[in-house]
Amino acid sequence: MPTVSILGIESSCDETAAAVLVDGVVRSNVIAGQEVHRHWGGVVPELASRAHQEHIVPVVHEALQKAGVRKEDLAAVAFTQGPGLIGALLVGTCFARSLAQSLGIPLLGVDHMQAHVLAHFIKDDEERGAPAFPFLNLTVSGGHTLIVLVRGPLDMEVVGTTLDDAAGEAFDKGAKVLGLPYPGGPLIDRHAAVGEPYRFALPVPQIQGLDMSFSGVKTAFNNLVRKGLATDPGFVERELPHLCASLQQCILDILLRKLQKAGRTLGVPRIAISGGVSANSGLREQVKQLGVREGWEVHIPPLAYCTDNGAMVAMAGHFLLLAGRTTGLDTVPHPR
Ligand code: KG4
Ligand code: ZN
Repeated sequence: MPTVSILGIESSCDETAAAVLVDGVVRSNVIAGQEVHRHWGGVVPELASRAHQEHIVPVVHEALQKAGVRKEDLAAVAFTQGPGLIGALLVGTCFARSLAQSLGIPLLGVDHMQAHVLAHFIKDDEERGAPAFPFLNLTVSGGHTLIVLVRGPLDMEVVGTTLDDAAGEAFDKGAKVLGLPYPGGPLIDRHAAVGEPYRFALPVPQIQGLDMSFSGVKTAFNNLVRKGLATDPGFVERELPHLCASLQQCILDILLRKLQKAGRTLGVPRIAISGGVSANSGLREQVKQLGVREGWEVHIPPLAYCTDNGAMVAMAGHFLLLAGRTTGLDTVPHPR
């Protein structure tokens, strides 16, 4: 059987990434981040597009080179079609379209959130079993917070979502209040490791069903920090680990309560996490504990496949190709 090599390109937000998968096995996974947003406290769309334009050729070149795959040997080109920033998506879309056209191979338009879920199926040197179907995936990123019932690689249903901010946004906005640079999630994680999770009380909202909300914790955290600083200018500096730990634990309590409820009400004994926030060490640990308490199987991708990457896009492309679901060369990005 001939091997199937797929190039995956990701450019939905602030990482330009490319990877090559050969028969579902990662041969390369290259990511160029964008430092330029750090001091703006968030991703600046125009700067993101420009950085993608600069990075895309060298990143794809490096991915092919590291994989030892010539572009003429590719079976298909997969790219993130959406959701994401329109200008950022356009760079990846135009590049992928031109490459597929010039090579005369299929183009595969990938849904970014579906790709985050399919990260569980990426194979590499490490021995890891992929989740059996159906399973429940908590997909947590900077723009989305979803509980997804995954019945098959391309058969997914969103059973719960946030009504306002995404979990990653709650981390990043909380970090901003503390004066930490963007993206704040990883920094909150690091400081939280030495803080007390319930030192400061923050509200876990009572919302019906499997939906979630993070605007209450954002406001409460903002008020807590402002109040503290009003009476003590050294408040944040002194309490930083405890502030980070309390914010993180409140976000995790919201996420894990709903994931637990989803598993129980839908009767699905397999849970998984993915997306940027699934890199959080507290979440990784506590979702494992939830699995032990409930007797459920737990799946957590390696860190490299949690935050945005090209391997998950190539993986999603692999399933699309198998299903014969290719994309026309005249396709456009789907920002929403
Ligand atoms: O999936 P992702 O890389 O990009 C989007 O699709 O949005 O997710 C980025 C989000 C950011 O909000 C970032 O702060 C958060 O993931 N994040 C973390 C951690 N690493 C990344 N949040 C908490 N703890 C982390 N260790
Ligand atoms: Zn993402």
